[in-house]
Amino acid sequence: MSGKRIIGWVILALTVLVALVPLVRGSADIPIAQHHLIHAALIAGGLLSALLLATPSRDIAVGHYGWLLLAVFSPFAAMLLMWPSEYAWYERHASGHILEHLGILGLGFTTGYAGQRYAAGIGWATGLSLLFMAVASAWGFGVAHSISPIVATSTVVQHIATSSEQATSGSPDVAHGGKLFTQNCAVCHGARGAGGEGPSLIGEKARKNFTQAQQWIIDPSPPMPKFYPAVLTRSDVRDVAAFIETL
Ligand code: HEC
Repeated sequence: MSGKRIIGWVILALTVLVALVPLVRGSADIPIAQHHLIHAALIAGGLLSALLLATPSRDIAVGHYGWLLLAVFSPFAAMLLMWPSEYAWYERHASGHILEHLGILGLGFTTGYAGQRYAAGIGWATGLSLLFMAVASAWGFGVAHSISPIVATSTVVQHIATSSEQATSGSPDVAHGGKLFTQNCAVCHGARGAGGEGPSLIGEKARKNFTQAQQWIIDPSPPMPKFYPAVLTRSDVRDVAAFIETL
């Protein structure tokens, strides 16, 4: 085996190891941009090994069109595998994530290999354009520059925190919250929040912060009844939570 081919196999093996990283690390909370750079690295590894391993064709003969088709369609398939909306799923399923990585690596390899088999130099052209697209997506082309969606929405806590910021802006109306408290909550928590059938809410601020209080009211444990969304709107919840934080 020539030195060139040995290097090709070594690069391929190392890249496969990188592709398997989610097996050990589980779903890593890394930014999407970094994730794309990892994908670009997988493509680069697959591509480089293919360019070293493929025996380039010196002439464009009829019958080589299969290689050309592969070289042209593999980059498209690779981009589909990197579609941003799939992240949430991949980050919950390590095995799917590994398959995605191996798919990307394989398509990087095929792009270079098939290109070289069609005609010398073509593998470089198709391969580098795929690599360019992968790196470009790390800089936000076609993807949101934020933490991955599953990280942002993985817990109800964070979801409610975000939606409370979006649903209502400005400061909550504490006086309105007080009125809502008298109407809906006083029966159990007492007119002044000192408790009754329900626990005292005095000093509640020390137990639940503003966000946690809203969360509780949105999704309380029984026997406390649920008021949202049937009785209280999202902004009512905010007002009444602001009120109980003053008790
Ligand atoms: C039917 C009676 C009832 C009504 C009405 C009621 N609650 Fe409660 N609430 C409870 C009970 C019982 C608990 C304790 C539940 C538990 O700890 O599992 C509780 C717990 C709470 C807590 C958590 C206290 C803690 O331990 O930190 C908050 C906050 C609260 N209620 C706010 C409200 C607000 C605001 C309203 C009105 C929108 C309301 N409740 C209406 C019965 C009620």
